[in-house]
Amino acid sequence: MSLSIEEMASFCKRKGLVYNSAEIYGGMAGFFDYGPYGVELKKNILNEWWKYMVSSRQDIVGMDGAIISPEAVWKASGHAENFSDLMLVTEDKSYEVRADVFLEEQLKRSFDGVSAEEVNKLVEEHKLVAPNKKKFKKCESFNLMFPLKVGAAGTAAYLRGETTQMIYLNFSLIQNDARMKLPFGIAQTGKAFRNEISPRNFLFRCREFEQMEMQFFIKHGDNKKWFKFWQAERKAWYLSLGIKEKNLRYRAHNKDELAHYAKQAEDIEYNFPFGWKEIEGVHDRGNWDLSTHMKHSKQKLDYYDEETKERIIPNIIETSAGVDRNFLMFLYDAYDDDKERGNIVLHLHPKLAPIKVAILPLVKKVGLKEKAEEIFNSLKMNMVCFYDDSGSIGRRYARMDEIGTPYCITIDFESLTDNSVTIRNRDSREQKRVKIADLVSALDLS
Ligand code: GAP
Repeated sequence: MSLSIEEMASFCKRKGLVYNSAEIYGGMAGFFDYGPYGVELKKNILNEWWKYMVSSRQDIVGMDGAIISPEAVWKASGHAENFSDLMLVTEDKSYEVRADVFLEEQLKRSFDGVSAEEVNKLVEEHKLVAPNKKKFKKCESFNLMFPLKVGAAGTAAYLRGETTQMIYLNFSLIQNDARMKLPFGIAQTGKAFRNEISPRNFLFRCREFEQMEMQFFIKHGDNKKWFKFWQAERKAWYLSLGIKEKNLRYRAHNKDELAHYAKQAEDIEYNFPFGWKEIEGVHDRGNWDLSTHMKHSKQKLDYYDEETKERIIPNIIETSAGVDRNFLMFLYDAYDDDKERGNIVLHLHPKLAPIKVAILPLVKKVGLKEKAEEIFNSLKMNMVCFYDDSGSIGRRYARMDEIGTPYCITIDFESLTDNSVTIRNRDSREQKRVKIADLVSALDLS
């Protein structure tokens, strides 16, 4: 796994996976667009997560909340005041950087949860200056929320910094309408926005990104049990989609590192070429969120416990994953520069592969094209297909390997008489002859 993050970004651009957003205008750090194959892979990650976390469970329901919400929401949640990172800025403001990121680069160790005093001490001790040799001012705190004004009246609002707040605001409505009883979960996927000081490492740290979050509401006292349960479940999901176990680990947050809402937090980390980095967090948020929104909105967000005949404020175990970081991880884990084949192969799990099957008439001759189109039309409602009749068959196989297509179907002259085609397996390169009528069952996408 020696591919650098710059090489990965360039591979993604070449293969129609991810582009820098607004590149023809020079782009802007931390914003990306997904291309034709990238959007399929991203949707597949989201769909697999939804199936695992929502559709296949009786105790979790979904929702889809607004991206923009009034200032009051983010004041109550604590984000307007506390959702910040430490920043180092030069005296002449010519260079700014997130303090822990800068220290990690300079001193080659992790500085998660470092305090402002420690940053100032380290900068002085090691005589650290900006890359342009300018001196830093004292370290300062920078809020990551994106404020904006809504309507002609200019009502103060924010772009959401995490998707989950909308779940808390709708807790009582959903609990009543879906008749949920503790313990139960509410899940949501969607965009989140953070004005990151140092967006870097391609999709790893963006300013606009997507989250897959689930809040599991429980009775106070059951926190440890459910924290452990969701830790195991989330790791199992990654393994079920083919991530190599040796590349995953859990790391507990130390006290200084905990977000303002968290009582306990553990990150699932992936072994990227730029180090072990967080792809998902499992958090014990206690009853902080529901309590603070009850206090500020003066509305009831509690729960009637039929056993004890009391009204209680549920505790929350949260699982919070980033889609873009997942995307990057699945690509790294699948990436194989196969010297023997002479091309890259993405060994993506078939459920995640952007294209499931390529339909390749061996030559551009009358009869084969029509047969290939007939097969395309018979499969297209079952799976994402791709038709390609240009170039040598070897070149076409290579193009499909490079975007992770698990199967290629070739149609030759015999197909016209025996109604059979050849299926080529991406990973083993094995080829087998199959009746066209049996194709759907022969293509194993599980
Ligand atoms: N609701 C809790 C929460 O948002 P978080 O640890 O701040 O917790 C959860 O974020 C996940 O969101 C992270 O594990 C990561 O995958 C993703 N994420 C956070 N900031 C990101 C960024 N700037 N760019 C890309 N993904 C990010």
